Amino acid sequence: MTTVATIIPHSRPAIDQEDLRATVEVLRSGQIAQGPWVERFERDMAAFVGLQGGVAVSSGTAALELALRALRIGAGDEVIMPSYVCPAPWLATQRVGARATLVDIDLNTFNIDPLAACQAVTNKTRAIIVPHLFGLPADLTALERLGIPLIEDCAQTLGVTEQDRPVGTVARLTVCSFYATKLLCAGEGGMVLSDEGALLERVRSLREYDGAPALDPSSFNFKLTDMQAALGLSQLERFPAFHERRRVIAAAYREALSSKAAVCPSVPPGRTHGYYRFVIRLPHLRTNQDGLLSLISRLEEEGIHCRKPVFRPLHRYLEQSGFPNSDEADRTALSIPLYPDLTDEEVRQIQQSLAKVLS
Ligand SMILES: Cc1ncc(COP(=O)(O)O)c(C=O)c1O
Repeated sequence: MTTVATIIPHSRPAIDQEDLRATVEVLRSGQIAQGPWVERFERDMAAFVGLQGGVAVSSGTAALELALRALRIGAGDEVIMPSYVCPAPWLATQRVGARATLVDIDLNTFNIDPLAACQAVTNKTRAIIVPHLFGLPADLTALERLGIPLIEDCAQTLGVTEQDRPVGTVARLTVCSFYATKLLCAGEGGMVLSDEGALLERVRSLREYDGAPALDPSSFNFKLTDMQAALGLSQLERFPAFHERRRVIAAAYREALSSKAAVCPSVPPGRTHGYYRFVIRLPHLRTNQDGLLSLISRLEEEGIHCRKPVFRPLHRYLEQSGFPNSDEADRTALSIPLYPDLTDEEVRQIQQSLAKVLS
């Protein structure tokens, strides 16, 4: 077995001199906690997404919790979400005391299946959390028809469209994450965005405990710092360049995989893809429990760190069954490194290694 000395990581934040300058400027200002930079970040993010306003918070998970609280969702209520997603939507739902109803995904897009969501609606359903996974918007048009308030989870998808509508502008509330390896990074961080001022006011009042007229156990310290906001603002300026670089790398991977037994990301009509992740499906691994993990090991020996895009579907944690597409994605989906900082040389190395390992 040959093991290469340096490995191309699965994710890497793109930090440049301007990011450093912006962050140091805040450190030197003497005002480093939540302040004017946070306010500017909220205004600029809202304008970027295409909404009236935003409230910056400490993480995407906190943003989900506060979005549910803004809709006054709690005990006795049900929230629909896909099984194939990280635990954040489920955790947020538990924290407000509601019940999470898991549904399957559309295997073609990895996003929530609107038909499965429709079948899961009951008279207790109060919201559907719609994660747009890997850079591709979910089928918002079909989900909207269900008449249930949507919460768009844009942690992985920004700057793209569904039926010419910018992602994040369809739901009553939208959440973002600024975790280190997300599309825009601030180390950690999140935001709730909306056109409805009253919902945003409620999020704002729950974000901190100081100055409240009465003690509210659902409030907490969910604040973002000016240091993080300065980094987020600096990253936001570079979003168009990040987006373009991601598209160029995705096209290179499509070319390298064109003759292989791999299904490249699909882009349904009326949607655009932002390639937060480049997730391929390897249908031949469908019946092989350990096939994906051994493929990941072989790519690691080639110097490429690939990953399962979702660590474990929620229904598997919760020992539920009846999610065949999530199970298939869990066995066959592979995420290949794709981020703006990848060099052309690294892209070539990944192309060659994929061609070798998948031949
Ligand atoms: C789809 C989705 N929603 C929510 C989150 C939670 O964001 P955070 O890590 O900032 O809490 C993530 C982050 O991994 C995510 O991928």
